[in-house]
Amino acid sequence: MAVIADQCPDVRVTVVDVNEARIAQWRSATLPVFEPGLDEVVARARGRNLFFEAITPQVLAAADVIFVCVNTPTKTFGEGKGMAADLQYWEKSARTILQHARKGTIVVEKSTVPVRTAEAMSRILNARADDEDFPVLSNPEFLAEGTAVRDLLQPERVLIGSRPGPAGDAAAQALAAIYRRWLPEEKILFTSVWSAELSKLSANAMLAQRISSINALSELCERTGADVQEVSQVIGSDRRIGPLFLQAGVGFGGSCFRKDLLNIVYMCGQLGLHEVAAYWKQVVDINDHQVARFTRDILAHLFNTVVGKRMAIFGFAFKPETDDTRDSPAIAICRRLLEERAELAITDPRALDNAARDLAGLPGSIHFEPDPYAAARGAHAVVLVTDWPQFRALDYARIFADAQRPAFVFDGRNALDHRGLFELGFNVVPMGKPPLLHR
Ligand code: UDX
Repeated sequence: MAVIADQCPDVRVTVVDVNEARIAQWRSATLPVFEPGLDEVVARARGRNLFFEAITPQVLAAADVIFVCVNTPTKTFGEGKGMAADLQYWEKSARTILQHARKGTIVVEKSTVPVRTAEAMSRILNARADDEDFPVLSNPEFLAEGTAVRDLLQPERVLIGSRPGPAGDAAAQALAAIYRRWLPEEKILFTSVWSAELSKLSANAMLAQRISSINALSELCERTGADVQEVSQVIGSDRRIGPLFLQAGVGFGGSCFRKDLLNIVYMCGQLGLHEVAAYWKQVVDINDHQVARFTRDILAHLFNTVVGKRMAIFGFAFKPETDDTRDSPAIAICRRLLEERAELAITDPRALDNAARDLAGLPGSIHFEPDPYAAARGAHAVVLVTDWPQFRALDYARIFADAQRPAFVFDGRNALDHRGLFELGFNVVPMGKPPLLHR
């Protein structure tokens, strides 16, 4: 919304939330999320045509277009627990809109939702009308965290799904007119509402599938002495496959991939498509397996015991350039190491507050260290979980000098200079290639 406001100074954008503390943060000097470039965009538009307000009937009544961006987390109760999307926030929004918005207001579904949700929303909104009082569009968001502003300014595509017929077409064109302000026509794709919803889920599922495929190959490489980075480079140079999302690592995290995959699995199960459900479920299973085997390997290399050993965890965010730790592989890795009674010293440039929340209440010894050198001091091993560029630039001779012997680096993202570390004296265990061990 901030990018829309920035690109369209004559369009008034009001962001509303039921959480007033959140709104207060958006109005303050310190935004509630870290996202590169966002501070500048908000600073330019806020108070001009970008406003943050508590949700009121007046705001809804004044809107020509309402974007519904509520979260649709995985259900933690009842039918479909652990798999299906929890649509309670989303349905409440529909009912609030129905109560307060003007007829003719365009409702845009932005949350990633299982297919046919827009249809359900449309039925709630238009239950009392003969005609469509509230045209409903699906406009799923493809931005990735850490590159959100860039992804919005230069997207691969913008997707607008609408219902067939003149009302749907007119609504789709009204929304497209906003995006046309900074995007060429060919970037805007028009589909049916259902195709739009399913495309978003499928795009994430296929990205996750590439990561699980290369991660599955990384284990095969380790067993056979191949190097997964070499394999990945060769595969990726095939134009039909392409180089992106082929980096082996400790597994994917974030708020989307697992949730969307499970959504597809659940939906397929509901439709009786059991083989299809099993196919996508396997993408999730390989991801869990990758995390599990990473921690097993750490234990094996550290002589099968980490009790009381200090482990420096480099990175806790689910990827670099974000403070988001939702479904980060770091959570499962730290849990497993704590179960083995290791002492953890966690460092991350942005995510330590979230890390402390994620690990709250777990028994064991956990330190949060903004300074990576302090985290690594006296450690038996450095475990790199998130490939922040900062970690590449550290003075590893200094880290080695302060480390226990034998000193280990487990590079869960193949982010570091393995040969260089080995020459400094470290035992180096990369992902998907032979370890470099001093005998
Ligand atoms: C993703 C989609 O990319 C985006 O289009 C969608 O709108 C939301 O979900 P996001 O979750 O923000 O975005 O991050 P993304 O960059 O896709 O990374 C997801 C995870 O995959 C991270 O944990 C990352 O470390 C991991 N990853 C990515 C790999 O392990 N290897 C890769 O080659 C690429």
